[in-house]
Amino acid sequence: MRTQVGIIGAGPAGLMLSHLLHLYGIESIIIESRTREEIEGTIRAGVLEQGTVDLLNATGVGERMMREGHFHHGIELRFNGKGHRIDIHELTGGKNVTIYAQHEVIKDLVAARLKAGGEIIFNVGDVSLHQLDTPTPKIRFRKDQDGELQEITCDFIAGCDGFHGPSRPAIPETVRKEYQKIYPFGWLGILTVAPPSAPELIYANHERGFALVSTRSPEIQRMYIQVDPRDDIANWPDDRIWEELHARLATHDGWELIEGPIIQKNIIAMRSFVCDPMQYGRLFLAGDAAHIVPPTGAKGLNLAVADVQVLARGLESFYRSGKTELLERYSEICLRRVWKAERFSWYMTSLLHRHPDHTPFDRRIQLAELDYVTSSRAAATSLAENYAGLPMEFETTAGVSL
Ligand code: FAD
Ligand code: DHB
Repeated sequence: MRTQVGIIGAGPAGLMLSHLLHLYGIESIIIESRTREEIEGTIRAGVLEQGTVDLLNATGVGERMMREGHFHHGIELRFNGKGHRIDIHELTGGKNVTIYAQHEVIKDLVAARLKAGGEIIFNVGDVSLHQLDTPTPKIRFRKDQDGELQEITCDFIAGCDGFHGPSRPAIPETVRKEYQKIYPFGWLGILTVAPPSAPELIYANHERGFALVSTRSPEIQRMYIQVDPRDDIANWPDDRIWEELHARLATHDGWELIEGPIIQKNIIAMRSFVCDPMQYGRLFLAGDAAHIVPPTGAKGLNLAVADVQVLARGLESFYRSGKTELLERYSEICLRRVWKAERFSWYMTSLLHRHPDHTPFDRRIQLAELDYVTSSRAAATSLAENYAGLPMEFETTAGVSL
């Protein structure tokens, strides 16, 4: 097989890249280790930055999101039994917080790619990358997990295969530097069949640990509580989850959490991770393959989409005019924004979680920071602009704004 851009992974990064390349007239093939049903059914992120929403709309895949998504103007930070609203819309000059589940974005992108005749090969196994520092890098894989070995010869390879995929390890260890922070907490996430308990997302800091109230639809709600990352979900019968949610979210003003049957629950660990550089020869990493953020800032999916916008522009410039400048600067351009999102995700995580090693002094500093960010317009504006998403500002040396 032969293609211009071989893409490994059909997550938000790989699918959006393939979609953008198609709009630029560049062909690609996506290979994905899971089945279509699996990728369309995995529950993950929920919050889209305004830039992601604008991109989905501008490229013709936003219709269902505009119909079924939820558009909030603010978020609530809750501590000491009291809620404090951060008016994201007003503080950012009109940006929204959009709630539209990641697997719905995946469904929309898969449908758009297949409708346009795009090729996605699902359920592949044994994926490996070869000849990355030549003009004809290759991807090898087995169809249907353990079928016949196949090879795709490409001009470029995009490693969009998430944190555990084979792309990042294909960059020689002597070339890449990895930065990592593992947090001593995890999130237990649930889906429950109940009406919304609040009009906007609630991020709660409580002595017993962090809690988050989010939504999916008028009938289904998404909530999270901080737990030990090594804990077993079997230790969390539904009653215990509700007890913690009630305790951590309790207010002095009679607000009530609405319970319902829990239809899904799981625990995820939390880490911050950055690989520098995000490219090697003709291989470009995008999304979780290159960087991980803890979910508190709701940035993971949005960063993946931001990376592939830069990559698609670089590839477009290469195929249109033979220029390699943008591709050469891919990593540098992405990492400036990635590190700012890493900083914000670390900040939100530190601000809102109970730290097992915190002294009483550390705890008072945390509460002072919460008091500051909810009472100073300057501090709230900083939080709001980061939460809603920093702009995709970068210029080529030719002075062209992208
Ligand atoms: P992914 O979505 O991971 O996609 C990578 C794709 O590559 C997958 O489909 C995978 O099957 C495929 N793949 C892997 N290996 C291979 C291979 N060898 N060959 C071919 N394909 C391969 N972010 C938030 O903001 N909020 C959240 O609540 C949240 N929850 C999360 C829960 C979990 C369990 C995880 C793992 C992540 C969560 N995230 C969350 C992060 C967010 O979902 C990711 O940042 C986002 O999915 C990144 O998109 P991606 O395309 O880079 O990677
Ligand atoms: C959701 C996930 C997040 O990581 C977050 O910060 C807010 C909401 C969600 O899944 O709805």
